[in-house]
Amino acid sequence: MTATAAEQPAAIDPDRLPRHIAIIMDGNGRWAQQRGLPRIEGHRHGVKSVRRITEECARLGVEQLTLYCLSSENWRRPQAELSFLMHLLEQYMIEERALLMRERIRVGMIGRREGIPDSTLAEFDRTVEICGDNDGLRLCLAVNYGARAEIVEAARRLAEEAQAGRLAPAAIDEETFAAQLDTAGMPDPDLLIRTAGEMRVSNFLLWQISYAELWVTDAAWPDFDESHLAAAIASYAARDRRFGGLSPK
Ligand code: IPE
Ligand code: IPE
Ligand code: MG
Repeated sequence: MTATAAEQPAAIDPDRLPRHIAIIMDGNGRWAQQRGLPRIEGHRHGVKSVRRITEECARLGVEQLTLYCLSSENWRRPQAELSFLMHLLEQYMIEERALLMRERIRVGMIGRREGIPDSTLAEFDRTVEICGDNDGLRLCLAVNYGARAEIVEAARRLAEEAQAGRLAPAAIDEETFAAQLDTAGMPDPDLLIRTAGEMRVSNFLLWQISYAELWVTDAAWPDFDESHLAAAIASYAARDRRFGGLSPK
């Protein structure tokens, strides 16, 4: 059956497409609880949204998609939930390889490796290696990630360089600082999406989102689909990004 014009997604002006979309994937637990299911079922369904949205971003020609999978503060959760999240991540790393290769997606990770099981890291490293030569969407997973810790770590490294006499403090500028962050070499997010309604950034990419456009939906992450993504991109495309300057109009 052919789609009618009304069913066709609105064409997006390529010049107005965000290069880098970052998503705070929230609301898995509430999604499950509303259905009388254990929280982990929300995480399991959340993986389906990850798959859907990754594929859609690749199709649209988005350059980078960064997904907040686990914050450094999420370790405060019950051990059983954390173990399940690690298991899901590991399974995802294995099962996703076919899709990542088909869509020519590269994978990377930001955050700290400490605390993540060796078996999960091994599958992760294997996937990164397999996808290493791909030239499509760059998928960046934030796992055990916390922006404040990332910034402190960058400051410490620069201080060590200065103390060793290899770096003049006066030479430290935004560029040298950004080069010490986990996101070195990546463009800053243009569009930051948060699902499940909370109006906060929860220690995500604090340096990098200085001028990101924010878009929040009440939809929980397991319900987030291509139509929500299209709405977020359409909202982004209609905005006037001034970066502190004046509108050209
Ligand atoms: C987001 O969903 C996934 C992670 C933080 C790992 P939550 O698990 O935070 O779901 P809610 O916010 O409790 O509904
Ligand atoms: C942010 O969600 C972290 C991830 C989506 C991985 P949280 O559920 O941890 O955020 P808070 O606790 O509501 O701020
Ligand atoms: Mg949450």
